[in-house]
Amino acid sequence: MIIFKEHKELKKYLAKLNNSLIGFVPTMGALHQGHISLIKKSNKSCNITICSIYINPTQFNNIDDFVNYPKTIKDDMKILQDNNCDILYCPENTDLYKANEKSKEYCFNGIELYLEGEHRPGHFNGVATIVEKLLNIIKPQKIFFGEKDLQQLMIIKALVKQKNILTEIIGCPTIREQNGLAKSSRNQHLSQTDREHCGVIYKQLLDFKNLYKKMDLNELKNQIITNITCSKKIKVEYLELIKLDNFQSVEAHHHNIKYAVCIAVSVSGIRLIDNIIL
Ligand code: PAJ
Repeated sequence: MIIFKEHKELKKYLAKLNNSLIGFVPTMGALHQGHISLIKKSNKSCNITICSIYINPTQFNNIDDFVNYPKTIKDDMKILQDNNCDILYCPENTDLYKANEKSKEYCFNGIELYLEGEHRPGHFNGVATIVEKLLNIIKPQKIFFGEKDLQQLMIIKALVKQKNILTEIIGCPTIREQNGLAKSSRNQHLSQTDREHCGVIYKQLLDFKNLYKKMDLNELKNQIITNITCSKKIKVEYLELIKLDNFQSVEAHHHNIKYAVCIAVSVSGIRLIDNIIL
């Protein structure tokens, strides 16, 4: 694996590659099976896989969350080597942002305003800013994102369309722990008991999937929230049935429309998100 810290060097290297199909997996490190699944997908359909590890400051709306974000670069490099990643790009802030540079402001037909957009103001401007920068540097034929961050995946689809960027976006299924908890870098901050306890989140999302066509939606949501919060360990920030095309919450479902159920919770102060595409 070749490691680049500066985008100029990376671009020079990429310019010399002829006819390579480049797959790109952007990450913030603290790599786990979820990230690895994206690397494997890229390896299967591309000749060169590039992973970036960069904890992007502009997408954090909470300074503690940014400061405490897990940093495991040595382990990450080993994981990438073992999984046949060809290139790692792990820049410093100065390689991507000018001093005091802020996020750009985007408008994605409202997708950026709901759920994560509402609860983490500025988050998607930060995500879109960094992904646009990375896409301009790497210009991959394919870019891989997890459905675990479903709204982010939709935002990137809107970004690529809006900016006419030529890349194919591949959404990949959520990888879970044995008890159903979606793998996340933030799970490292959970105690063993909290981790075990969090299996209830996915179980309840599955119950939602089984029941949402049969029950009154508000009644169902209350039931699910009660079941998740009954031990008082987990607080539900939101639980919403959303239309997949625009991420708007709905009060009832209709035929022939694609939906997802999305949830954000906090567990001993750690914020987790999950969803199921219905
Ligand atoms: P990060 O949280 O490190 O996630 C990197 C990629 O891994 C994202 O596409 C995310 O959806 C995917 N991922 C995370 N957990 C997953 C899981 N359990 N199963 C499948 N895929 C999973 O998302 C970001 O970083 C950043 O916002 C980034 C896009 C890199 C921009 O800074």
